[in-house]
Amino acid sequence: MASRVLFLFLSFVCHVVTAGRTCPKPDQLPFATVVPLKDVYDPGETIVYSCKPGYVSRGGMRRFTCPLTGLWPINTLKCTPRVCPFAGILENGIVRYTTFEYPNTISFSCNTGYMLNGTDNAKCTEEGVWSPAIPVCSPVTCPFPPIPNFATLSDYKPRPGNNSFYRDKAVFKCLPKYAMFGNDTITCTAHGNWTELPECRDVKCPFPKRPENGYVNHPAKVALSYKDQAKYGCHDTYVLDGPDEVECTKFGNWSAQPSCKASCKLSVKKATVLFNGEKVKLQEKFKNGMLHGEKVSFFCKNKEQKCSYTVDAQCIDGTFEVPKCFKEHSSLAFWKTDASDIKPC
Ligand SMILES: *[C@@H]1O[C@H](CO)[C@@H](O)[C@H](O)[C@H]1NC(C)=O
Ligand SMILES: *[C@@H]1O[C@H](CO)[C@@H](O)[C@H](O)[C@H]1NC(C)=O
Ligand SMILES: *[C@@H]1O[C@H](CO)[C@@H](O)[C@H](O)[C@H]1NC(C)=O
Ligand SMILES: *[C@@H]1O[C@H](CO)[C@@H](O)[C@H](O)[C@H]1NC(C)=O
Ligand SMILES: *[C@@H]1O[C@H](CO)[C@@H](O)[C@H](O)[C@H]1NC(C)=O
Repeated sequence: MASRVLFLFLSFVCHVVTAGRTCPKPDQLPFATVVPLKDVYDPGETIVYSCKPGYVSRGGMRRFTCPLTGLWPINTLKCTPRVCPFAGILENGIVRYTTFEYPNTISFSCNTGYMLNGTDNAKCTEEGVWSPAIPVCSPVTCPFPPIPNFATLSDYKPRPGNNSFYRDKAVFKCLPKYAMFGNDTITCTAHGNWTELPECRDVKCPFPKRPENGYVNHPAKVALSYKDQAKYGCHDTYVLDGPDEVECTKFGNWSAQPSCKASCKLSVKKATVLFNGEKVKLQEKFKNGMLHGEKVSFFCKNKEQKCSYTVDAQCIDGTFEVPKCFKEHSSLAFWKTDASDIKPC
């Protein structure tokens, strides 16, 4: 009995050695490894196919034994990449991606006014998780605004946490007598800083000069500053050219330099003229002379066509020129028709 068993065993071994064929190097499968990998396998030797890190197959690994035929069995192993969790949406930002599979990388950016809290890209790892973790887009914040010298905040509403978001504004006011240079409004930028601060400067104006034939009143102070005012006036028969009140500007000069202009004596005894659209007698209307700047229109004759036309004349600082075409009639020449009574041309 024992000898029979021994015989069978020996003949089996004999058979394997003589009739058994070796197996060749196994086929390469995508994303899979074979262990052990050799060029030749004896019948009975075992190999294991498994997916490379980052890849998985349904049913897990495959184990095969080299058969006596020397032909490896058909291998149904199919390794597919691991898929990371969906990451196609980033609130207040965008995600750039092709797929969410191993070993791809996706990248992130935030909308203007938001900044990335985290890294701008993440890789789908062998374990099927994103690394580093998906970032978030947090609103940009600006700190409590810096306040320029000699200024106060006139309009500012901080957010909770005492800071500001992108596009929030703060408005400054200079202390009295200080002049603002630059924009009074600053804005929280997308970089998390504020736009350029304005400056408040102490501005002085020289004392205003007294006009000839007039006077100027100003506050009795050691120096005159921004927004201080001065009042001008003229002596009798003189007229102020310019506003009667001026102000010290932020440039350190006065808003205007009024002067006093002389009125005009009339060189005509008798004339009917147009003044503010009405016919008036010059000698009556301007008994006390014409003031600087006042303007009238004289009537002149066109002899050929027997009609009248008007020519303007203005009192300018004591000078009043009567138009040359104007003919003054002697009061004795009563039969002559005045130009103002002739039909207009
Ligand atoms: C960034 O995110 C972390 C964790 O989510 C949070 O603790 C931190 O306050 C955030 N930083 C900013 C500046 O938003
Ligand atoms: C906000 O910050 C400013 C400047 O740092 C400080 O003067 C002010 O008291 C703070 N306000 C609050 C409510 O914390
Ligand atoms: C001041 O800034 C605001 C907003 O930042 C802008 O709208 C405005 O035009 C600026 N004003 C001047 C005078 O530059
Ligand atoms: C704000 O920050 C940006 C970027 O760092 C810089 O280019 C810019 O000059 C800064 N603006 C001001 C007003 O400081
Ligand atoms: C005051 O000075 C500014 C800047 O130099 C100039 O632009 C302006 O014309 C001056 N004003 C007067 C009334 O002279």
